[in-house]
Amino acid sequence: MNRRPGLSARLKLTISYAGFLLLTSALLLAVVWVFLLRYVPDNQQGLLGISPNRYLLVRIFGRAAAIALAVLLVFGLVGGWILAGRMLAPLTQIADAARMASNGSLSHRIRMEGRNDEFRELADVFDTMLEQLESHVTEQQRFAANASHELRTPLAISQTLLDVARNDPTRDQDELIERLHTVNTRAIDLTEALLLLSRADRRSFTREPVDLSLIAEEATETLLPLAEQRQITLDVTGGTTQTVGSAALILRMVTNLVQNAIVHNLPAGGTVTVHTESQHDTSVLRVENTGHPLPPELVPILTEPFQRGTERIRTDEHAGVGLGLAIVHSIVRAHDGTLDLTPRPTGGLLVTIRLPGIPQASSRTRERDDLRLEH
Ligand SMILES: Nc1ncnc2c1ncn2[C@@H]1O[C@H](COP(=O)(O)OP(=O)(O)O)[C@@H](O)[C@H]1O
Ligand SMILES: [Mg+2]
Repeated sequence: MNRRPGLSARLKLTISYAGFLLLTSALLLAVVWVFLLRYVPDNQQGLLGISPNRYLLVRIFGRAAAIALAVLLVFGLVGGWILAGRMLAPLTQIADAARMASNGSLSHRIRMEGRNDEFRELADVFDTMLEQLESHVTEQQRFAANASHELRTPLAISQTLLDVARNDPTRDQDELIERLHTVNTRAIDLTEALLLLSRADRRSFTREPVDLSLIAEEATETLLPLAEQRQITLDVTGGTTQTVGSAALILRMVTNLVQNAIVHNLPAGGTVTVHTESQHDTSVLRVENTGHPLPPELVPILTEPFQRGTERIRTDEHAGVGLGLAIVHSIVRAHDGTLDLTPRPTGGLLVTIRLPGIPQASSRTRERDDLRLEH
């Protein structure tokens, strides 16, 4: 921002110090003057009706007072300048750090020393802000690098397939097309997942009353064939659980969770339970599945983009692109909820999502839900 040049804070403080000093001194001198007048006798009539005693007093005291004030002014200005400089020094430090940050150097910290005061507090807050900003930027860079890497994989595979086809025209065309199609689908899935992630992060969606139990029904219905294919029992329990948000995003969230619960389950004979319930003013969704035991230290980082538990799953066509839980997390955040991942002692995972609930469902939603059920 371009501002008009003005007095520096140091100069303003100096002038204020000096001015205040001058004012108090002038008041003090005035008090002394009044006292002196009372004790100097006024018996002789002199020039212009003023007694000679008093005339002398005015002259001597007046000159002394003027000198004293001049000295005090100089003293106030010099002292004020030094004091203001000392007071404002931390501000210069903070401004330097801010300037460095705005030039892109986020690794610099102020780390102001000394006891706590307003300036130290400001510096500490600033340091914390820089720390968060830096970790956020690093995270974004890592994310962009990972996303590019993940996107390059299907493209590189496509290119290899095309190269092979060009060098060997006698190869089976149908197989090539089938493989290209699979790879292409994966690239589209990944791009769509990335778009979804950014949409949820931007929080640009309209909020409407949503019944979690209906969404759970819808998600499990879609994934039932996959569960049957893998001989996994899918259960939905619990009753009406209202919350507010985007029905499409919440459906995506539940679908991702249930799909994970099916895909990362036992090879056969596993179970998945989806449960919804209202607790006071919270709507709770729980997705629990059997499976192999998960290393506890791995669980907290599973929500990071492209973080996959075990390499073994990469060959599974339903395993997803490694963004499933990242999308869930970002949708939960966008709905002001919380996400909890707990490894089950016997293997598998328990995912608990808490979203803000609404005490009473509006009749409008009920009507719409009824309509949706009829379809
Ligand atoms: N319900 C679950 N049970 C066991 N492991 C899970 C479950 N959900 C997720 N995981 C682990 O978390 C990892 C990340 O999940 P996700 O982000 O959905 O990526 P993806 O499913 O594409 O691998 C998975 O690779 C898996 O190891
Ligand atoms: Mg997944």
